[in-house]
Amino acid sequence: MKSLLITRPIADPVLAQARARFAVTLGKGPLDEDAAAAALGAHDLILPTLGDAFTAAAFRKAGKNPRCRILANFGVGYSHIDAAAAAAHGVVVTNTPDVLTDATADIGMTLLLATARRAGEGERMLRDGRWGGFGPKGLLGTHVTGKVLGIVGMGRIGQAVARRGHFGFSMPVIYYNRSPKAVDLPARQVADLHELMRLADFVVVTVPGGAANAGLIDRAAIAAMKPGGILVNIARGEVVDEEALIDALAAGRIAGAGLDVYLHEPHVPERLRALENCVLLPHLGSATVETRQAMAQMALDNLIAFAEGRAPPQRVN
Ligand code: DGY
Repeated sequence: MKSLLITRPIADPVLAQARARFAVTLGKGPLDEDAAAAALGAHDLILPTLGDAFTAAAFRKAGKNPRCRILANFGVGYSHIDAAAAAAHGVVVTNTPDVLTDATADIGMTLLLATARRAGEGERMLRDGRWGGFGPKGLLGTHVTGKVLGIVGMGRIGQAVARRGHFGFSMPVIYYNRSPKAVDLPARQVADLHELMRLADFVVVTVPGGAANAGLIDRAAIAAMKPGGILVNIARGEVVDEEALIDALAAGRIAGAGLDVYLHEPHVPERLRALENCVLLPHLGSATVETRQAMAQMALDNLIAFAEGRAPPQRVN
């Protein structure tokens, strides 16, 4: 039986399938670079996830021909894996697209609505016993219906957020995407990121993480936002300049931010946590029972295909 390391517990029915086919070792926490290198040498197959540091250095430490030949990532985003270094070491990388699109788009809308309507602030007030009752001027937020929705990165998740905004909330949709992109809903592509930041009432960031998009939403892009603008990040922490965003929120230069991802997860800066005008979720994008089971199944199916000598369907490198 081939040896499979699953770095974090996954849905029980999928784990049972995995145990029936492979000698499974179940990890307990994220692998740092040294642990990732050791795992590459110790197992035939690995099912890693966010936080496992399969960096170029980890592959270097593992040596030219590591025992492991496939990393079937649990998650669509795989910026924690250096896919090029993996390829150079003969290691296939796969991911889990599509199955998490709706769940992640739902979290985008959750953050957009919760930030606009000051839901986090209101809940904290109520739970702390600070709510004095209904008042015509109590906790006034920003109206959502009909406002301009700007999507940064019009991939699968970006389009799913756009559909929710357009069909659910009558929002005119604009989007920025590096390459020209036709979509099957009324939406206008803008050529310049700063133009999008200027025009949108709500900016939702959905680009892939990794070096290509690191710092895309930089200080200048944040400064280009409308004074009442709201930024939502459901992509990866490194895409947004966290310090610049905190400065803008602290100074009240934008109305708020809804964040599901952070630069150094699970660390969330104290300055950010102290601000009332942001809603902070612990990376819940794909966190539904159904979605997480489908992600696990897809990752396992890639491993099974590979072990049986077939092409893994969701190969990315
Ligand atoms: C992904 O799949 O990339 C998510 O961010 C993890 O839930």
